[in-house]
Amino acid sequence: GNGAHVPVLVIGTGYGGSVAALRLAQAGVNVHMVEMGMAWDTPGSDGKIFPRITEPDQRSFWLRTRTKQPLSNFLGFPIDRNIPRYTGILDAEDFSGITVYQGRGIGGGSLVNGGMAVTPRQEHFGSILPSVNAGEMYTTYYPRANATLGVNHVDPAWWETTACYQYARVGRKHAQRSNFPYVLVPSVYDFEYMKQEMAGSVPKSATDTELLYGNNHGKKSLQKTYLAQARATGRVTISPLHKVTSVVPASGGGYTITIEQLNTNGDVVATKTVTANRVFFAAGSVGTSKLLVKLKATGALPGLNGEIGKGWGENGNVMCGRANHLWDPTGSLQATVPTGGIDNWNAGGAFAEVAPLPTGIETWASFYLSITNTPQRAQFTWNASAGRVDLNWQTSWKQTSINMAKTIFDKINSKEGTIYRTDLFGVYKIWGDHLTYHPLGGAVLNRATDNYGRLHGYSGLYVIDGALIPGNTTVNPFVTITALAERNIEKIIATDL
Ligand code: FDA
Repeated sequence: GNGAHVPVLVIGTGYGGSVAALRLAQAGVNVHMVEMGMAWDTPGSDGKIFPRITEPDQRSFWLRTRTKQPLSNFLGFPIDRNIPRYTGILDAEDFSGITVYQGRGIGGGSLVNGGMAVTPRQEHFGSILPSVNAGEMYTTYYPRANATLGVNHVDPAWWETTACYQYARVGRKHAQRSNFPYVLVPSVYDFEYMKQEMAGSVPKSATDTELLYGNNHGKKSLQKTYLAQARATGRVTISPLHKVTSVVPASGGGYTITIEQLNTNGDVVATKTVTANRVFFAAGSVGTSKLLVKLKATGALPGLNGEIGKGWGENGNVMCGRANHLWDPTGSLQATVPTGGIDNWNAGGAFAEVAPLPTGIETWASFYLSITNTPQRAQFTWNASAGRVDLNWQTSWKQTSINMAKTIFDKINSKEGTIYRTDLFGVYKIWGDHLTYHPLGGAVLNRATDNYGRLHGYSGLYVIDGALIPGNTTVNPFVTITALAERNIEKIIATDL
């Protein structure tokens, strides 16, 4: 409540925040979590908590009156539609050169993401987080993260035959015919559940076009893993529809946090303050960076160092589709959870996941989200006249990523005698170069913070989310965000409390 005092306040309920809450609670510390999004525990008028990807409604987008679907077009036609403004689950946050997609609600990105749970190859770890001991990460913290997230592997024999992964097998065939390694990747979607979906014995989710706007079944979001365990300790409380706007040192020690309570229109219905001995910034790369940049520039936390807001990257995300021959259908039934990737990182700087196009009809298209080794990094700055934080990313910087993705798809197209699809992102537009799903950085480890996420300049303030990672993880990021948070919180509990 207003005026309360808590030992620890965690801003955000995504991966970093959930790790912090669970481990602190297990160490006997009471934790209060503040989440700007909704709780996502109550069904809508259709009896379901989350809508399908093919039928976006008010639940789908954060405070928008029109959908902004990552694939904006089909056969060249725009597919966005008007929706009521609502505190929906997916935020398509626009900066001048890029739209950053993020999850909003208890569970953060785990509510909306594809569930691909990929541990980077150890040989690449030094390029991701050079100041972190890789040996410890691969013997202790990656295994801990994978176990607690409930990561599982698809049964290869089932994968080889099920109709819902025909698109993935076509992706593998084309990769291998061009001599690219194709790897099956682990997931937090429960593949035993998916088998039962295909057998018709349980309600369908991944096989019924659920993703992006939430999964009603099957996906082990943080609500079912870290946060369920955290709540079970009895030491963790969570306030949904509460947004942190300020953190300032309190006169008696600790920090005063200002929090706005929102209604589902996004209007502020109350402003509250609480004090806390320690504050963990876990609002995601963008959320944490925006808060810290504003608080430093406006004099709330002037002692933060000059690294705040720097080192931001988008994991080199770029999307494209290929048009297949008529004898290579990808299937009208496509499980929304991707299972495989084409690994050309060392030779071409790209790791491409073979993604679904769950339209419900045969499209003869293969669709890919590439993660690339782009060197481009952007910076968040405070725009005083507009009263907001800007990001200086430029769309043209994606050309480096496109060139890297082309090392895979130009070769496949030439081998298969196929072409790129030009109808998915506009009219005659091949590359989805306007967006990212993987924001990383802005309060980089060992620069804006010490080597464990303690913010320079203020004791008791920590960063514990994707903002710590300088722009790239070589693969999908949430396992690395979780493992790094596990490493950092263990040290913080041992030495700071
Ligand atoms: P995360 O974004 O998860 O959590 C931050 C939370 O803080 C949010 O709930 C937010 O609402 C809240 N918040 C922000 N500001 C606040 C404020 N001021 N006050 C209160 N609360 C605030 N990764 C992967 O590894 N495999 C995959 O398959 C995918 N697929 C994928 C698909 C899509 C569509 C998206 C959008 C993302 C993915 N990702 C992914 C990325 C992955 O989901 C992402 O990297 C993590 O969720 C980031 O974890 P964090 O803990 O950094 O923040």
